[in-house]
Amino acid sequence: MRAPPAAPRNQEPPALARPVSRRTVLALGGLGVIAVAGGAAALWATWPSGTAGFVGGDDLHQPDELTSSGGLLDVTLSATPATTVIGGRSARVLGYNGGLPGPTLRLVPGDRLRVTLVNGLAGPTNLHVHGLHVSPEGNGDNMAVMVKTGESFHYEYRLPADHPPGVYWYHPHHHGTVADQVFGGLYGTIVIDDPVPIESSRERVLVISDVTLDGVGAVADASAADRMQGREGELVLVNGQLAPVLALRPGERERWRIVNACVSRYLRLRLDGQRLQLLGIDSGRLERPAEVDEILLAPGNRADILVTALEGGTELRTLAYDRGTATSGGMMGGSGQAATGTEVALATVTVTGDPVAAPGAVPRQPAPLDLRGATVTARRELSFDMGMGMGGGSMMTFTINGQEFDPERLDTTVLAGSVEEWTLRNTSEMDHPVHLHVWPMQIVDRGGTAEAAVVWRDVVNVPARGQTTVRISFADFAGRAVYHCHILDHEDAGMMGTILVR
Ligand code: C2O
Ligand code: CU
Ligand code: CU
Repeated sequence: MRAPPAAPRNQEPPALARPVSRRTVLALGGLGVIAVAGGAAALWATWPSGTAGFVGGDDLHQPDELTSSGGLLDVTLSATPATTVIGGRSARVLGYNGGLPGPTLRLVPGDRLRVTLVNGLAGPTNLHVHGLHVSPEGNGDNMAVMVKTGESFHYEYRLPADHPPGVYWYHPHHHGTVADQVFGGLYGTIVIDDPVPIESSRERVLVISDVTLDGVGAVADASAADRMQGREGELVLVNGQLAPVLALRPGERERWRIVNACVSRYLRLRLDGQRLQLLGIDSGRLERPAEVDEILLAPGNRADILVTALEGGTELRTLAYDRGTATSGGMMGGSGQAATGTEVALATVTVTGDPVAAPGAVPRQPAPLDLRGATVTARRELSFDMGMGMGGGSMMTFTINGQEFDPERLDTTVLAGSVEEWTLRNTSEMDHPVHLHVWPMQIVDRGGTAEAAVVWRDVVNVPARGQTTVRISFADFAGRAVYHCHILDHEDAGMMGTILVR
C-alpha cells in the first residue's frame, strides 16, 4: 500500500493544485527516474498538495463493460448523484448507473447503440457520444435534445459498417452545465473494436479525470476565476481511483484505452522504463504502431496503446504542461488560478513474476485517408478569442469569430460530401483544444509548418497565439452539429458555434 504524506486534517485549507516551476519539474523528473528503483518517496514528491489526507494504492478497477451482441447494444444510463469512495474518503459525486466512470460500452462497426438516458440530476442534462461518426439528427447525437429532471430520452446511434475502430467516450452536453456535470463524474468509455483483433494479454480502460472535493466530500464549486482559466481538480483519478496499482508480468503486452475526461487538464503521459506503442489517437489506426515515450492528450482526446512490461515497474505520470493563463496581461488582477504546470503521479505499475512469451506482431493496418490531395470546396477561418466583457465587468468573453454561442443562430453552412479547409486561429494567451462533432479533422499545418504525417484528431489543440489548419470531409451524414473549445468551462462560457451540413 502506498499513501501520500500524512498531513493532520485541517492543517491547511484545500489548496489549488500547486504550480511547479521549471526547476522543480526538472528535479521531480530526476526523482522519477530514481522511482523505478527507489519506490514511494518519489511518488509522494509528485503529489499535488490538495491530496493531503487521501490515500491510494488499491488495484486498478475496471468499469462495468456492456458489449453488443447480434448488432445491438441496448443500455440504460441513469445520471444521478452517487456516493463513492475516492482516495479512502467518502465522496458525493455524480455518476452514470452509480459508478464513476460509467460503464464501458463495447461495439463493433455496423452496430446499433440504443441508450435510454434517465435524468436523476437536479437540473437538465443530455448525452453526447464524443468522436462517434454518427448522425447528429433526431434521436442521434443531437445537441438540441434536452432531458429535464425526472425525464428520460431514447437515443439511437447507427454506426456505419466502416466506422473507424478506436476509443470514444460519452458525457453530458447541456450548454451551461457541461463542465459542472463532467467534473462531477459523468463520463464513460466507448470502445469500437478492431476488425482484425490485436493480440494482448489483457485489456484495460484508463479514464483519467480530475475533481476537487471539499471538506465534507462534496464536489467543489468552481470560482469565476476557475471558470475563466478552465478548472483543474486537485485529485487526478484513474477510473475514479487515486493512485491505483497495475500489476503486470515481464513480457506481458497490455492494451490500454486511455480517455482524457478532465474538464481542462492537458495530459502529458509517460511510463518511463516500459515500452509504449501508439496504435492511434481519437479514432482510427496508424498504419504501424509508433514507439513513443510520451503521449499528449488535450481535454477530450483518447489514446489507444500497447504497453509491453519490462522488469522493474514504474509510475504512470502526467508531466507539467503550460497551457497559458487567463490572467496574463493583468486583466484579472492576478487572483486567478495558476493551474498549469503540475506534474502528477497517476498510478503505480509493478512488473513482477515469471516472464511470459512475447505476443504476436501487430497486424498491419490500412493506410489512413489523406485529404491533402483532395479538392477543397471552401476555406474558412475560425478565430478563438478571449476578451473583456461589455461594461467593464470582470468576466471575460469567450467567442468564436466574435460571437458567443447561440443555439438559434447558424454559424457555418457546409455542403454535404465536400472537403473543407479550416484555419483555427487563437488570439488569446491560452491554448484552446478545438473539437468538432461527427466529422474528424486531419491536421495539415501547425503554425505555418506543414504536417508531414497523416494526423487525424477530433480534438485539435490550437496553441496560445497560434494557429492550426485542418481538413474535414463532410461525408456520410447531414444535419446540425457544433464545434467548440473542449476546455468545458470555455464551452459553457460561449466558445461554441453551430454547423449545418446539407
Ligand atoms: Cu466531448 Cu462537444 O464534446
Ligand atoms: Cu464531441
Ligand atoms: Cu478554450
